[in-house]
Amino acid sequence: MRIVLLGAPGSGKGTQAKRLMADKHIPQISTGDMLREAIASGTRFGMKAKSVMGSGNLVPDDVVLGIISERLGKPDVAEGFILDGFPRNMQQALDLSELLDQLGTPLDTAVLLDVDFDILMKRLTGRRTCSLTGKLLNIYYSSQAELDECTKAGGKLIQREDDNEETIANRLEVYHENTEPLIEYYAGLGKLTTVNAEGTIDEIYERLRAALD
Ligand code: AP5
Ligand code: MG
Repeated sequence: MRIVLLGAPGSGKGTQAKRLMADKHIPQISTGDMLREAIASGTRFGMKAKSVMGSGNLVPDDVVLGIISERLGKPDVAEGFILDGFPRNMQQALDLSELLDQLGTPLDTAVLLDVDFDILMKRLTGRRTCSLTGKLLNIYYSSQAELDECTKAGGKLIQREDDNEETIANRLEVYHENTEPLIEYYAGLGKLTTVNAEGTIDEIYERLRAALD
Protein backbone atom coordinates (compact mmCIF):
# COMPACT_ATOMS: atom_id res chain seq x y z
CA MET A 1 0.00 0.00 0.00
CA ARG A 2 1.78 3.11 -1.26
CA ILE A 3 -0.26 6.21 -0.51
CA VAL A 4 -0.01 9.97 -0.69
CA LEU A 5 -2.26 11.80 1.78
CA LEU A 6 -3.35 15.11 0.31
CA GLY A 7 -5.21 17.77 2.25
CA ALA A 8 -5.10 21.29 3.63
CA PRO A 9 -3.32 22.14 6.88
CA GLY A 10 -5.58 20.80 9.62
CA SER A 11 -7.44 18.36 7.37
CA GLY A 12 -6.24 15.50 9.61
CA LYS A 13 -3.37 14.03 7.58
CA GLY A 14 -1.23 13.37 10.66
CA THR A 15 -4.13 12.10 12.77
CA GLN A 16 -5.37 9.65 10.14
CA ALA A 17 -1.88 8.59 9.00
CA LYS A 18 -1.00 7.54 12.55
CA ARG A 19 -4.12 5.35 12.75
CA LEU A 20 -3.43 3.82 9.38
CA MET A 21 0.18 3.17 10.36
CA ALA A 22 -0.87 1.33 13.54
CA ASP A 23 -3.52 -0.63 11.68
CA LYS A 24 -1.65 -1.59 8.49
CA HIS A 25 1.91 -1.63 9.86
CA ILE A 26 3.31 0.68 7.22
CA PRO A 27 5.26 3.84 8.12
CA GLN A 28 3.88 7.35 8.09
CA ILE A 29 6.38 9.61 6.37
CA SER A 30 5.67 13.22 7.30
CA THR A 31 8.00 15.83 5.82
CA GLY A 32 6.68 18.36 8.36
CA ASP A 33 7.56 16.06 11.30
CA MET A 34 10.98 15.26 9.83
CA LEU A 35 11.72 18.95 9.28
CA ARG A 36 10.69 19.75 12.88
CA GLU A 37 13.00 16.97 14.11
CA ALA A 38 15.82 18.38 11.97
CA ILE A 39 15.26 21.83 13.50
CA ALA A 40 15.22 20.39 17.03
CA SER A 41 18.50 18.56 16.48
CA GLY A 42 20.15 21.50 14.71
CA THR A 43 21.04 19.66 11.48
CA ARG A 44 21.93 21.38 8.21
CA PHE A 45 18.44 20.67 6.79
CA GLY A 46 16.93 22.11 9.97
CA MET A 47 18.91 25.35 9.80
CA LYS A 48 17.69 25.91 6.25
CA ALA A 49 14.09 25.14 7.14
CA LYS A 50 13.46 27.01 10.39
CA SER A 51 12.58 30.53 9.26
CA VAL A 52 10.68 29.29 6.20
CA MET A 53 8.46 27.04 8.32
CA GLY A 54 7.90 29.83 10.83
CA SER A 55 6.40 31.95 8.06
CA GLY A 56 4.28 29.11 6.65
CA ASN A 57 6.00 29.08 3.26
CA LEU A 58 7.35 25.96 1.58
CA VAL A 59 10.87 24.75 2.29
CA PRO A 60 12.89 24.51 -0.99
CA ASP A 61 12.11 21.48 -3.13
CA ASP A 62 15.70 20.19 -3.14
CA VAL A 63 15.80 20.09 0.67
CA VAL A 64 12.55 18.15 0.92
CA LEU A 65 13.44 15.83 -1.95
CA GLY A 66 16.73 15.03 -0.18
CA ILE A 67 14.84 14.04 2.97
CA ILE A 68 12.31 11.93 1.06
CA SER A 69 14.90 10.16 -1.12
CA GLU A 70 16.84 9.15 1.97
CA ARG A 71 13.69 7.99 3.78
CA LEU A 72 12.33 5.93 0.87
CA GLY A 73 15.67 4.14 0.71
CA LYS A 74 15.12 2.56 4.15
CA PRO A 75 14.05 -1.10 4.43
CA ASP A 76 10.84 -0.48 6.42
CA VAL A 77 9.07 0.90 3.33
CA ALA A 78 9.14 -2.51 1.63
CA GLU A 79 5.45 -3.17 2.42
CA GLY A 80 4.40 0.39 1.62
CA PHE A 81 4.24 3.88 3.07
CA ILE A 82 1.92 6.78 3.81
CA LEU A 83 3.30 10.09 2.58
CA ASP A 84 1.93 12.92 4.73
CA GLY A 85 2.62 16.44 3.49
CA PHE A 86 4.64 15.44 0.43
CA PRO A 87 4.32 16.21 -2.45
CA ARG A 88 3.15 19.79 -1.97
CA ASN A 89 3.59 21.28 -5.43
CA MET A 90 3.83 20.11 -9.03
CA GLN A 91 7.64 19.87 -9.03
CA GLN A 92 7.58 17.63 -5.95
CA ALA A 93 4.90 15.43 -7.52
CA LEU A 94 7.06 14.98 -10.62
CA ASP A 95 10.14 14.32 -8.48
CA LEU A 96 8.22 11.70 -6.50
CA SER A 97 7.02 9.99 -9.65
CA GLU A 98 10.61 9.82 -10.96
CA LEU A 99 11.94 8.53 -7.64
CA LEU A 100 9.28 5.80 -7.40
CA ASP A 101 9.93 4.82 -11.02
CA GLN A 102 13.61 4.38 -10.18
CA LEU A 103 12.69 2.26 -7.16
CA GLY A 104 10.17 0.25 -9.21
CA THR A 105 7.42 0.96 -6.67
CA PRO A 106 4.68 3.10 -8.24
CA LEU A 107 2.12 4.93 -6.14
CA ASP A 108 -1.21 3.17 -5.59
CA THR A 109 -3.36 6.15 -4.77
CA ALA A 110 -3.48 9.76 -3.62
CA VAL A 111 -6.16 10.23 -0.96
CA LEU A 112 -7.61 13.69 -0.58
CA LEU A 113 -8.90 14.49 2.92
CA ASP A 114 -11.62 16.92 1.95
CA VAL A 115 -12.61 19.50 4.59
CA ASP A 116 -14.38 22.82 4.39
CA PHE A 117 -11.95 25.71 4.92
CA ASP A 118 -14.01 27.17 7.84
CA ILE A 119 -13.30 24.14 10.03
CA LEU A 120 -9.52 24.24 9.55
CA MET A 121 -8.74 27.36 11.60
CA LYS A 122 -10.36 25.91 14.74
CA ARG A 123 -8.61 22.57 14.33
CA LEU A 124 -5.24 24.31 13.90
CA THR A 125 -5.46 26.96 16.64
CA GLY A 126 -6.67 24.25 19.03
CA ARG A 127 -4.00 21.67 18.20
CA ARG A 128 -1.63 20.61 20.97
CA THR A 129 0.93 17.79 21.15
CA CYS A 130 1.58 15.89 24.37
CA SER A 131 5.23 16.45 25.33
CA LEU A 132 5.46 12.95 26.83
CA THR A 133 3.83 10.78 24.17
CA GLY A 134 3.72 12.96 21.05
CA LYS A 135 -0.02 12.30 20.84
CA LEU A 136 -1.96 14.83 18.72
CA LEU A 137 -4.67 16.52 20.79
CA ASN A 138 -7.00 19.46 20.50
CA ILE A 139 -8.25 21.79 23.20
CA TYR A 140 -11.59 22.17 21.40
CA TYR A 141 -12.17 18.60 20.22
CA SER A 142 -10.30 16.18 22.49
CA SER A 143 -12.14 14.92 25.56
CA GLN A 144 -11.09 16.27 28.97
CA ALA A 145 -10.01 12.72 29.85
CA GLU A 146 -7.60 12.60 26.89
CA LEU A 147 -6.11 16.00 27.79
CA ASP A 148 -5.82 15.02 31.47
CA GLU A 149 -4.10 11.76 30.57
CA CYS A 150 -1.19 13.84 29.29
CA THR A 151 -1.03 16.53 31.95
CA LYS A 152 -1.65 14.23 34.94
CA ALA A 153 1.29 12.09 33.84
CA GLY A 154 3.43 15.24 34.00
CA GLY A 155 3.28 16.07 30.27
CA LYS A 156 2.76 19.48 28.74
CA LEU A 157 0.37 20.39 25.95
CA ILE A 158 2.69 21.97 23.39
CA GLN A 159 1.48 24.28 20.63
CA ARG A 160 3.29 24.21 17.28
CA GLU A 161 5.08 27.48 16.45
CA ASP A 162 3.31 27.81 13.12
CA ASP A 163 -0.16 27.33 14.66
CA ASN A 164 -0.83 31.04 15.17
CA GLU A 165 -3.56 32.77 13.15
CA GLU A 166 -1.22 34.80 10.93
CA THR A 167 0.95 31.84 9.92
CA ILE A 168 -2.08 29.58 9.53
CA ALA A 169 -3.63 32.09 7.09
CA ASN A 170 -0.44 31.99 5.00
CA ARG A 171 -0.26 28.17 5.14
CA LEU A 172 -3.82 27.95 3.83
CA GLU A 173 -2.96 30.38 1.02
CA VAL A 174 0.20 28.43 0.17
CA TYR A 175 -1.89 25.24 0.08
CA HIS A 176 -4.43 26.84 -2.25
CA GLU A 177 -1.76 28.16 -4.64
CA ASN A 178 0.71 25.27 -4.66
CA THR A 179 -0.85 22.06 -3.44
CA GLU A 180 -4.47 22.18 -4.61
CA PRO A 181 -3.42 21.76 -8.27
CA LEU A 182 -2.19 18.27 -7.33
CA ILE A 183 -5.83 17.19 -6.94
CA GLU A 184 -6.31 17.63 -10.70
CA TYR A 185 -2.93 16.05 -11.41
CA TYR A 186 -3.73 12.82 -9.56
CA ALA A 187 -7.29 12.79 -10.89
CA GLY A 188 -5.82 12.98 -14.40
CA LEU A 189 -3.65 9.94 -13.65
CA GLY A 190 -6.74 8.07 -12.39
CA LYS A 191 -5.18 7.84 -8.91
CA LEU A 192 -7.31 10.22 -6.85
CA THR A 193 -9.52 8.97 -4.01
CA THR A 194 -11.55 11.61 -2.17
CA VAL A 195 -12.60 11.08 1.45
CA ASN A 196 -15.02 13.36 3.27
CA ALA A 197 -12.87 14.46 6.22
CA GLU A 198 -15.54 16.21 8.27
CA GLY A 199 -17.00 14.51 11.33
CA THR A 200 -15.34 12.65 14.15
CA ILE A 201 -11.86 11.16 13.84
CA ASP A 202 -13.36 7.64 14.05
CA GLU A 203 -15.94 8.32 11.34
CA ILE A 204 -13.30 9.67 9.00
CA TYR A 205 -11.01 6.73 9.66
CA GLU A 206 -13.80 4.29 8.76
CA ARG A 207 -14.36 6.15 5.48
CA LEU A 208 -10.63 6.12 4.78
CA ARG A 209 -10.36 2.39 5.38
CA ALA A 210 -13.37 1.70 3.21
CA ALA A 211 -11.90 3.84 0.43
CA LEU A 212 -8.62 1.92 0.56
CA ASP A 213 -10.15 -1.57 0.56
P1 AP5 B 1 3.12 20.05 8.00
O1 AP5 B 1 3.65 19.61 9.30
O2 AP5 B 1 2.90 19.05 6.93
O3 AP5 B 1 1.79 20.86 8.27
P2 AP5 B 1 0.46 21.07 7.40
O4 AP5 B 1 0.42 20.57 6.03
O5 AP5 B 1 0.21 22.53 7.56
O6 AP5 B 1 -0.56 20.16 8.06
P3 AP5 B 1 -0.83 20.02 9.55
O7 AP5 B 1 0.19 19.10 10.16
O8 AP5 B 1 -0.98 21.38 10.17
O9 AP5 B 1 -2.28 19.36 9.55
P4 AP5 B 1 -2.73 17.85 9.45
O10 AP5 B 1 -3.50 17.69 8.19
O11 AP5 B 1 -1.60 16.92 9.70
O12 AP5 B 1 -3.76 17.83 10.66
P5 AP5 B 1 -3.68 17.08 12.09
O13 AP5 B 1 -3.93 15.64 11.90
O14 AP5 B 1 -2.48 17.51 12.86
O15 AP5 B 1 4.07 21.18 7.41
C1 AP5 B 1 4.53 22.23 8.22
C2 AP5 B 1 5.50 23.10 7.40
O16 AP5 B 1 6.65 22.31 7.01
C3 AP5 B 1 4.97 23.67 6.10
O17 AP5 B 1 4.27 24.89 6.31
C4 AP5 B 1 6.26 23.87 5.30
O18 AP5 B 1 6.94 25.02 5.72
C5 AP5 B 1 7.09 22.67 5.71
N1 AP5 B 1 6.90 21.50 4.82
C6 AP5 B 1 6.38 20.29 5.16
N2 AP5 B 1 6.34 19.49 4.09
C7 AP5 B 1 6.87 20.20 3.05
C8 AP5 B 1 7.06 19.91 1.69
N3 AP5 B 1 6.72 18.72 1.15
N4 AP5 B 1 7.59 20.88 0.91
C9 AP5 B 1 7.95 22.08 1.42
N5 AP5 B 1 7.76 22.43 2.70
C10 AP5 B 1 7.22 21.48 3.51
O19 AP5 B 1 -4.98 17.72 12.78
C11 AP5 B 1 -5.00 19.08 13.16
C12 AP5 B 1 -5.75 19.24 14.50
O20 AP5 B 1 -7.11 18.89 14.30
C13 AP5 B 1 -5.23 18.33 15.64
O21 AP5 B 1 -5.36 19.01 16.85
C14 AP5 B 1 -6.20 17.13 15.61
O22 AP5 B 1 -6.34 16.56 16.90
C15 AP5 B 1 -7.49 17.80 15.16
N6 AP5 B 1 -8.36 16.94 14.38
C16 AP5 B 1 -8.02 16.10 13.37
N7 AP5 B 1 -9.10 15.50 12.86
C17 AP5 B 1 -10.16 15.98 13.56
C18 AP5 B 1 -11.57 15.74 13.52
N8 AP5 B 1 -12.10 14.88 12.66
N9 AP5 B 1 -12.37 16.42 14.38
C19 AP5 B 1 -11.84 17.29 15.27
N10 AP5 B 1 -10.52 17.55 15.37
C20 AP5 B 1 -9.69 16.90 14.52
MG1 MG C 1 0.48 17.12 10.08
